[in-house]
Amino acid sequence: MNAGGAMADGSPAGPALLEIDRLHVSAHIEGCRYKVLDDISMTVQTGEARGLVGESGSGKSLTLRTCMGLLPQNLFVTSGAIRFKGRDLLADGGKTLSAVRGAGMAMVFQEPAIALNPVMRVGRQITDSVAARRGWGRRQAREFAIELMVQVGIRDPQRWVDAYPHQLSGGMRQRVMIAAAAACNPEMIFCDEPTTALDVMIQAQILRLFKKLQQELHAGLLYVTHDLSVVAEFCDTLSVMYAGRIVEQSDSLVEMLAAPAHPYTRALLGAVPRIKGPIQRPRGLSASAPPLTERSQAPLPPLVEIRPGWQAAPVGAGEAELFASGGVA
Ligand SMILES: Nc1ncnc2c1ncn2[C@@H]1O[C@H](COP(=O)(O)OP(=O)(O)OP(=O)(O)O)[C@@H](O)[C@H]1O
Ligand SMILES: [Mg+2]
Repeated sequence: MNAGGAMADGSPAGPALLEIDRLHVSAHIEGCRYKVLDDISMTVQTGEARGLVGESGSGKSLTLRTCMGLLPQNLFVTSGAIRFKGRDLLADGGKTLSAVRGAGMAMVFQEPAIALNPVMRVGRQITDSVAARRGWGRRQAREFAIELMVQVGIRDPQRWVDAYPHQLSGGMRQRVMIAAAAACNPEMIFCDEPTTALDVMIQAQILRLFKKLQQELHAGLLYVTHDLSVVAEFCDTLSVMYAGRIVEQSDSLVEMLAAPAHPYTRALLGAVPRIKGPIQRPRGLSASAPPLTERSQAPLPPLVEIRPGWQAAPVGAGEAELFASGGVA
């Protein structure tokens, strides 16, 4: 299926599981307005894992947070739509979004120590989003929490279900976050660098767990990472961001990695078709996107289609803004 939602045989498909449609988000800083997300469009279909990569500050986390209705107070959606199975999540002052969050969509954050409530027992946190809705008492919720803890590979869950987050290791806390996300049987999972804070051995275990969970739930996944080896192994489709913009994206990760169309994507990949190890940073490319206040606020030209389901920012016009903080060598 392609980004437009058409089937391979050309017949029209139903709405995408998640569709971000020309999304613009601005930050209000000291009385001025700055673009943080600029014309973001992407889709995730049921069962699809889309990787979202880009330099620090490019807007990956904010893309996920906007979808989950978790924007910081000084950030606002200025235009565009986010649709979940065709329902506009932003249309009714957030009511639809609240209903869908916790029932159809879940998010796993980078740092579970921050995302988890330090004064709530982990078992309760796992079932918090579902217990009230399903009318469960304490015992039933606790049993379900233990069941989920087993599923995410926490040994001896009876011992840990009543513990507080600080009593758990980093890997266990991340498993708790995943269990909490899985509790509502989400159709769509957002992951923001879920393994970055973990050591390499635990990272591999958590990644396998994610893959299993996604396959079991047949969920859509939007997966933010800095690690292209994870993307290559784990994702079906890929979007690349820089300075609040999509630079390039494709419904065929393999095609795009083999022959990236945009110089920034090539730079990000180190122009090496064999994808192994972390991003090879090209000479001259800054470690992070330019600060908001130094970015061009002028509209940039829209993405051009390379092939159906594969788009890139036009090279030439607008490129200067994309590389405002340094440029590709
Ligand atoms: N509350 C805020 N007010 C103003 N600017 C913000 C706010 N939150 C984020 N930003 C800015 O928005 C931009 C995108 O931030 P975001 O956190 O989405 O980046 P990211 O791609 O996730 O980066 P990283 O890889 O470092 O996590 C950055 O320039 C950041 O400074
Ligand atoms: Mg981030």
